[in-house]
Amino acid sequence: MKVAPSILAADFARLGEQVAEAEKAGADRIHIDIMDGHFVPNLSMGAPIVASLRPVTKLTLETHLMISNADLFLQEFANSGSDSFLVHWEGNVNLHRTVQSIRALGKRVGVVINPATPAAVLEEILPDVDQVLVMTVDPGFGHQHFLHSTLPKIGRVRQMIDRIKPECDLEVDGGIDSETARLCVKAGANVLVAGSSVFGTNNSVTEAMSRLCAKGESIYANRNHRTRKNGRQHGAAPDAGRPRVRGL
Ligand code: DX5
Ligand code: ZN
Repeated sequence: MKVAPSILAADFARLGEQVAEAEKAGADRIHIDIMDGHFVPNLSMGAPIVASLRPVTKLTLETHLMISNADLFLQEFANSGSDSFLVHWEGNVNLHRTVQSIRALGKRVGVVINPATPAAVLEEILPDVDQVLVMTVDPGFGHQHFLHSTLPKIGRVRQMIDRIKPECDLEVDGGIDSETARLCVKAGANVLVAGSSVFGTNNSVTEAMSRLCAKGESIYANRNHRTRKNGRQHGAAPDAGRPRVRGL
């Protein structure tokens, strides 16, 4: 199981420090939410934040583009240090082209689906991507309530990934805390994006990450053990060798 802390909930005055702490605590990647006020009703940040974070961490900088025309900004984010792009299925009439453009930049690519979008739209694009992100809230804001109606869909995406591309990551984003993490991992997720439950608590980032994973880690370990026995493994990269979230 991997954690992708979302800096949307971080203290921007201490951003470098907070990202470094997340890295030390075992984060797998740093999730950066880009919002344009059109695709979602909120503004957040742009490529300069990626450029500022690049020298601060060795972790993958995962860029979640919640913007109307993702194609226009890929090069700029790649130049700034993004390693991985998450692009939405919604509103993109040439998704295959966008995915190929990201590949041509030599970056990892994932497709995102919103809560009201069915899992079935992923079928044809799945062979071309490294990860799928299932939104568990409507995108645009941090600290929203997890939508439980997305759980059966996470299960359907897991089945599709196991059938078509078992090494593909299944990530969830929005309202993830220790309890909803447990539910998502049980349903088939292997990467948790979390903003407020990592950066927005009264605890240190290290403690918050440890609490976040407390309930899901054993479920993930059991599930992966069963899957390995059947000759498969979930997730794009084997977890062996990666630092575990501290405290677990
Ligand atoms: C929401 C963003 C999320 C957000 C999650 O549109 O995509 O990544 O930061 O925040 P929490 O974990 O607070 O729901
Ligand atoms: Zn996000």
